[in-house]
Amino acid sequence: MMVVLGGTGNVGRELVQQLAEAGEDVVAVARNPPGQSPSSRIRYVAGDVSDAASLASSLRGADGVFLLVPGAGAGLDAGALRKQFEAAGVSRLVMLSSLAAGSRPTAISHEPMRGLERVFRDSSLRWTFLRPGGFASNALAWVPSVRAERSVAAPFADVALPVIDPADIAAVAARVLLEDGHAGQVYELTGPVGITPREQAAVIARALGTPLRFVEWSRAQARDMMLRFMPEPVVEGTLDILGTPTEEERRVSPDVERVLGRPASPFSAWVARNIAAFG
Ligand SMILES: NC(=O)c1ccc[n+]([C@@H]2O[C@H](COP(=O)([O-])OP(=O)(O)OC[C@H]3O[C@@H](n4cnc5c(N)ncnc54)[C@H](OP(=O)(O)O)[C@@H]3O)[C@@H](O)[C@H]2O)c1
Repeated sequence: MMVVLGGTGNVGRELVQQLAEAGEDVVAVARNPPGQSPSSRIRYVAGDVSDAASLASSLRGADGVFLLVPGAGAGLDAGALRKQFEAAGVSRLVMLSSLAAGSRPTAISHEPMRGLERVFRDSSLRWTFLRPGGFASNALAWVPSVRAERSVAAPFADVALPVIDPADIAAVAARVLLEDGHAGQVYELTGPVGITPREQAAVIARALGTPLRFVEWSRAQARDMMLRFMPEPVVEGTLDILGTPTEEERRVSPDVERVLGRPASPFSAWVARNIAAFG
């Protein structure tokens, strides 16, 4: 049995589906789980990662756990989570970390994530860390303006980054949970090619069959908007990555292909599956 913490999000819901299709029983945990399950293999359970004790009954009998780190890890008790995982006899832990945990070793924004990695490295768990770059699904932030006024606004319009499809992250997580040979590995997960925000908007416009106006925000404009739903250090850290990425953050990593035996999916594949949202 596998437990997916954060089992209803972009990565988690794909992972739950892929594990169930592989014949695994899955417990999908979220604070607000859906009442009904699409499959007898999938059970939705309420739990809060920031309250490790709330996970105890979900973890009982788990062979593997996928840990989504909400809020960039601020407020999570890594030691308490480790104790819960160890007490439940979990053998495999897959933690969804971030590329920035390695590429920005001193950034305040990613210290909680690095702290979680340190705690699990020192544990008896067979851990694997997935460090993705930016997600293709971040483009969902553009849905309201695309729907209302056929426009997209973003900072750093012409800075290219190899954004990754969350379904590819889920596919790697499923392999790590189901196969031997991944313990102690840190996988950097990116898409197959760098793509700028302006180019992403053009891909969405093509899929919609209608032009989209692109508005380039200043860093200050983007900061004001992001502060509405992210803590300040995370906003600054994210803007640093989007505006002045390091060489490691711009690099296309071979790890998706190494694990899956096929290249990472392009941004256009994510758009094709999600175009109805932009309707
Ligand atoms: N977006 C990026 O570019 C990027 C880049 C690198 C790393 N990451 C990492 O990826 C994560 C986002 O993944 P995602 O896009 O799949 O997330 P998402 O779509 O926002 O989904 C989050 C999932 O976690 C659940 N959740 C949130 N807080 C929880 C809590 N305290 N306890 C239990 N469940 C909780 C949510 O359900 P409920 O709300 O019902 O609890 C939902 O199932 C980030 O937190 C970050 O750690 C993201």
